[in-house]
Amino acid sequence: MAHPSHDEHPHVPGPSLWPVGFAVGIVVLLVGLIVSWYVAALGAILALVFGFLWVRDLTAGTQLTEADEVAPEGGATAVESEELPPEDPADRYPRSKFLEISTLGLGAVIGGLVTVPVLGFMVAPAFLKQGDKDHDLGPLNDFPEGKFIITTYMTNPAQGAVSRRTAFIRNNGQLNGLPSFTIISNHCAHLGCPVQPNGPLNQRLAKQYRDVTLIPAISIAGFGCPCHGGQYDTEGNRTSGPPVRALDRYSFSIRNGNLFIGKPFAVAKVDGTGAQAKIHMQTFAYPGEHVDGPESWLYPIQPPH
Ligand code: FES
Repeated sequence: MAHPSHDEHPHVPGPSLWPVGFAVGIVVLLVGLIVSWYVAALGAILALVFGFLWVRDLTAGTQLTEADEVAPEGGATAVESEELPPEDPADRYPRSKFLEISTLGLGAVIGGLVTVPVLGFMVAPAFLKQGDKDHDLGPLNDFPEGKFIITTYMTNPAQGAVSRRTAFIRNNGQLNGLPSFTIISNHCAHLGCPVQPNGPLNQRLAKQYRDVTLIPAISIAGFGCPCHGGQYDTEGNRTSGPPVRALDRYSFSIRNGNLFIGKPFAVAKVDGTGAQAKIHMQTFAYPGEHVDGPESWLYPIQPPH
C-alpha cells in the first residue's frame, strides 16, 4: 500500500496556544506600562516564556527530507526501500524551515526598525530633563525654629510668574546633629489647587532674598484648599475632604549656610510630627493619584521627576 506523500502532510507546526499566550503577554506588558511596573513585568515574563515556547515549536520540527516509504511499482516491499543510498547531511536541514525562520526574523527586524524609534521619540522625552533644579532659598537664619515660613520663589525667573512655586517651610531644629526641615508643597492632593495656611501671616516681617519671598505665619492650624474644602494638618496629612493622600513634600539640602529646596515627592501619610515624623514617601505622583494601597495600582507609571 502506498504511503502518503509530502503534499498530503505538509511540514507545518500543529495548532498551538503559544502565540495566543505571547499576544496576551504583549497586551499585559503594554497595559502595565500605563498602570504599574508590576503588571508590565508580568507581561514581559509572559511574552518571553510564551515567545520562547513558540519559537521552540517552530524550530523543532521533524526532518522533512526523511525518505518516505513509497511503494514502487510492481509491489516492492519495505525491505527494498531500506536499500536506498544514505542521505546527504546537507539535505537534512529543510528549506521550508529556513524560509519560515528567515521570514519571521526579517519581520521582527523590520518591525523593530519601525516601532523602536517611534516609541523612543514618544516615551523617552518624558524621562529626560524632568523637574526643576535645586533652588537657593536663602540663609538658614531666615527660618526660625518651630515657625512656618510661607515661601514663594521662581523656578525659572526668565519665565516669570508662571514658574512661581509656594512651599510651607518649618525649621524643626536638629535631628542627630543635622538640620531638620519640613517642606510641604501647596499643591492640593485632590486636583492641585493652591492650598492656603489656616491661620494669619505676619506680613510686616516678610523678607526678600533674590526672587524668594519669605512670610512668617503667626500661627497655623493646618492647611485648607479653597476649591473643594480639602483639609490637612500641620504635617500635611489629609484630615477631611476629597484629597486622596497627604500634601507632597520637597527634599532639601544645606549649602554654605543656605537652604536649598529640591525635588517634590508624594506622601501617603506622615506619622508623628516635626523632626521625629515618619514620612511614608513615594515617588512623584500627580494630584488625585493614590500612592499606596490597591488603588495605587490603577495609576500610570510616572516618569522620574
Ligand atoms: S483641589 Fe483641593 S480639595 Fe479639590
